[in-house]
Amino acid sequence: MKSYFGRRYTLSASHRLHVDALTVEENRAAYGKCNNPHGHGHNYVIEVVVTGEVDQDTGMVINLADLDEIVEERVLERFDHKNLNLDTAFTNRVPTTENFSRVVFGLLKDMLPKGELEHVRVEETENNFFECYGD
Ligand code: NI
Repeated sequence: MKSYFGRRYTLSASHRLHVDALTVEENRAAYGKCNNPHGHGHNYVIEVVVTGEVDQDTGMVINLADLDEIVEERVLERFDHKNLNLDTAFTNRVPTTENFSRVVFGLLKDMLPKGELEHVRVEETENNFFECYGD
């Protein structure tokens, strides 16, 4: 029987939504204020959900300390207080939060010592959230 374990992390980062292939007007039409040349910041809330069997001995799907270490190393150290546009993950893709959730999923999915990565949910604001379930 599968169980699910989820944990929340927070990080602050800036981004600018802009695609070089689009014109100035097209970028403004697509992204509005988010296309402002100086960028803007978000306090992202990242939820990581792991699924698997509950371990007979430990009673856990994954040890949260192990998950914390992986998320810290792979995601928080890389993106917290950074400009997402300058990260190599976004060299060829616009750092929308749709794409950010995909990047985070990709950085974590093969790194877990137990269980499987079920999904990553990224809250960008009180009202917006984005989820990636892999392929
Ligand atoms: Ni934004």
